[in-house]
Amino acid sequence: MNYDQCQNCFKLVNNNQLIQFFVDLIEYKDKYTQGHSHHVKVIVETIYEYLPDQIKLKLDREKLINAALLHDIGKIKIPDSILNKESGLSDEEWKIMQEHPKFSKEIIKNTVFREIGDWILYHHERIDGKGYFGLADNEIPLESKIIAIADTFSALRTYRIYRPAKTIKETIHIMEKAGGEQLDKNILNYFLSIDENILEKLECNCKICQERREALEKLPNVA
Ligand SMILES: [Fe+2]
Ligand SMILES: [Fe+2]
Repeated sequence: MNYDQCQNCFKLVNNNQLIQFFVDLIEYKDKYTQGHSHHVKVIVETIYEYLPDQIKLKLDREKLINAALLHDIGKIKIPDSILNKESGLSDEEWKIMQEHPKFSKEIIKNTVFREIGDWILYHHERIDGKGYFGLADNEIPLESKIIAIADTFSALRTYRIYRPAKTIKETIHIMEKAGGEQLDKNILNYFLSIDENILEKLECNCKICQERREALEKLPNVA
């Protein structure tokens, strides 16, 4: 028996189980973002696939995907009354909500995922420096920029209790406008150059989105 190989397999299985545990935990607590971590992961995988080799060389695909899955894990420390609030948040509640990237980094700091701590810490940074920590363009890790694009796409394409999901055309339009201010324009251009039909299929499979899509499909076609 090749013990090293065995140990590696064992380690890999445990890492995947640990990730799944974290994801289950956040989705159990945050009922309106069920499926969000997995949705962001699938979008990040797609962005990576369409990046040119010179950018791919700067990235570790597996670690990037782990960061996509764990980016919002810090929300488990946000009170349910704020996380699952159906109306708008007050300034005070919003401040608490904005703590979640910091909590995400703290939660994984003693695990095998500690290396991706800064990528998830900075997933709400903006290119213009107006994000949670005020980091500007080249201060933001490339991985955080990719997660921010996937996170924005996921948010726009997801049904919320207070609003429907944006159509793919609306989503593309909103994201194009965010390029250079909120989102990294270079990475965004690669993402938005993907065929619209492929982008449209990057749907959220959370329970709420599935139910809303099924309900819409049942409506009579009035066109
Ligand atoms: Fe977040
Ligand atoms: Fe998110």
